[in-house]
Amino acid sequence: MKTVDVEDLEIRLLLEGVQHVYGYDFREYAASSIKRRLTHWLAESEFDTFSEAQSQLLRDRSLFENLLRGITVNVTEMFRDPAFFKVVREQVVPFLKTYPFVKIWHAGCASGEEAYSMAILLNEEGMEDRYRIYATDINETVLHKAEEGVMPLAEMQRFTRNYQKSGGAASFANYYTARYDRAVLSPALKKNIVFAPHNLATDAAFGEMNMILCRNVMIYFKHSLKERCLELFDGSLSAGGFLCLGLKETLERKKIGEAYEELAPPMRIYRKGYAAETLRNGRG
Ligand SMILES: C[S@@+](CC[C@H](N)C(=O)[O-])C[C@H]1O[C@@H](n2cnc3c(N)ncnc32)[C@H](O)[C@@H]1O
Repeated sequence: MKTVDVEDLEIRLLLEGVQHVYGYDFREYAASSIKRRLTHWLAESEFDTFSEAQSQLLRDRSLFENLLRGITVNVTEMFRDPAFFKVVREQVVPFLKTYPFVKIWHAGCASGEEAYSMAILLNEEGMEDRYRIYATDINETVLHKAEEGVMPLAEMQRFTRNYQKSGGAASFANYYTARYDRAVLSPALKKNIVFAPHNLATDAAFGEMNMILCRNVMIYFKHSLKERCLELFDGSLSAGGFLCLGLKETLERKKIGEAYEELAPPMRIYRKGYAAETLRNGRG
């Protein structure tokens, strides 16, 4: 008789049920990481086993939303990887400035720090009326947080250091107002940002972009889902556009990789070639 790990089977059935009932597909997330997140969620819940949780999860949307919050890793910060933002400022923005208007997609924006960092950078580079940022995430709770633009004041010292290391020369304190233990971001930073729910596992792309950032999101996905996302980004990115991945991610050995040139290794900034369309059509 075949031995089956009952817990793995319960997880498989639970993810299948969630996909059928709510349309959220976590079956293509890296198995070890999703198991770790689910096990942590179960330990904090009132249930002893995944089978026990399943029947309620499939009937109670608020419990599912609680699970969703438990599954996704939403860690982020302003000017995360300052050296990356320095390269964006010095080597990508000069290209972006040659366009009358640019559209930028932050896929998996979490609570918005990455998108706000980009808005600060573009405003400082004199592009304030010439860009729109689409910041999307699967987790609507973090998206609401992103829309509010309120952060713990205690984080501001660290974020100020990141900003300075990224080449920011103004006073970072110009970008927020301190209110008790909170830092409220300046409304001017929100002007060109649209926050919206979007699921990379199931949703289509929306419109043509000049730059797409998907950093520290696909590390949680299986190879097949990574490929799906990259195809989605490729279909959405205009020729000459920029694709930015997290520092631990790469386009090497990926289907779309040959149509892209790495701009500034090891910052994982890739530029789509102008012949990309032709190449793809040639490949059939
Ligand atoms: C670690 S955060 C990365 C945030 C930001 N990009 C950064 O690098 O600081 C990963 C984000 O990806 C989101 N995410 C996970 N699965 C997703 C999916 N299928 N579609 C869209 N976003 C997803 C999570 O909700 C989370 O907010």
